[in-house]
Amino acid sequence: MRIIKDIKEMQMFSDKTRKQGKIIAFVPTMGFLHDGHKSLLKEGRKYDCLVMSIFVNPTQFGPNEDYNSYPRDMERDLRIAEEEKVDIVFNPEVKDMYPDGFKTYVEVKDLSKNLCGLSRPSHFQGVAAIVAKLFNIVKPNIAIFGQKDFQQMSIIKKMARDLNFDIDIIGMPIVREKDGLAMSSRNTYLNTKERDASLCIYRAITKAKNMFNKGARDTDEILKEVRKVIELEAASKIDYIKICDIETLEDIKIIKNKALLAIAVFIGKTRLIDNCVLSDMITPITKKTNYTDSDKEIGFKSV
Ligand code: PAF
Repeated sequence: MRIIKDIKEMQMFSDKTRKQGKIIAFVPTMGFLHDGHKSLLKEGRKYDCLVMSIFVNPTQFGPNEDYNSYPRDMERDLRIAEEEKVDIVFNPEVKDMYPDGFKTYVEVKDLSKNLCGLSRPSHFQGVAAIVAKLFNIVKPNIAIFGQKDFQQMSIIKKMARDLNFDIDIIGMPIVREKDGLAMSSRNTYLNTKERDASLCIYRAITKAKNMFNKGARDTDEILKEVRKVIELEAASKIDYIKICDIETLEDIKIIKNKALLAIAVFIGKTRLIDNCVLSDMITPITKKTNYTDSDKEIGFKSV
């Protein structure tokens, strides 16, 4: 495994690898890796060359958010990267990614407005900017994202399409702890009491799924019950709970075939997000296992 910090060196490595006809799979991360990241790396390992970036991106954090305290453990991350057989860890410095005078952000309109965009208004332009930069530096054929950040994944798919990045964006299912809590680097902020309290989110998701499976389609009706489940937990404060269209991420009143239930809840000071797709169709989550040129044109979709 090689660690690259220099942007030019990364670009040269990728140029050379692509010239050899190899497929580069890319997993962008902010480090503090967990099993969710491991599932992305395992998917990426199916291709010729696996690049993972570790970069805590300042521009996606709001002024009062946790950029400084965001958990970091490079030694552990590198150990996990070795175990997952990553070829290249790209770990640039903030000063190189954002040199003095940096002024360019990427706004993906509409998709960024709802859900996390409501309480984190500049978050997605920071995410889209860093991902666009990383795409131009790592030059992957394939980039792999977790569906826990469903809105982020939708925005990146849209950005890739709109800006003609010749990259397949693959979404991978949420990985959960045994008790249902979605894996997140931020789970580490939770103390024991808060960790217990955090389970209200999975209980709420389960409630919504049960109601949907029993025929509920009116989103107000489902949301009312879901809110009740979360509000029963004293340590929780709802940021949002919404049911939206899976493509546009706009709120919907009645679920036709499919919808996204998306939740953001503070447990103490920690903001946790989670989601699930409510769907009529019993479609197993499809994962792409082989990459062919024609897939590029179709644009792989995992949901
Ligand atoms: O999902 C994340 O960890 C980050 O938002 C990403 C995609 C690495 C961009 O900084």
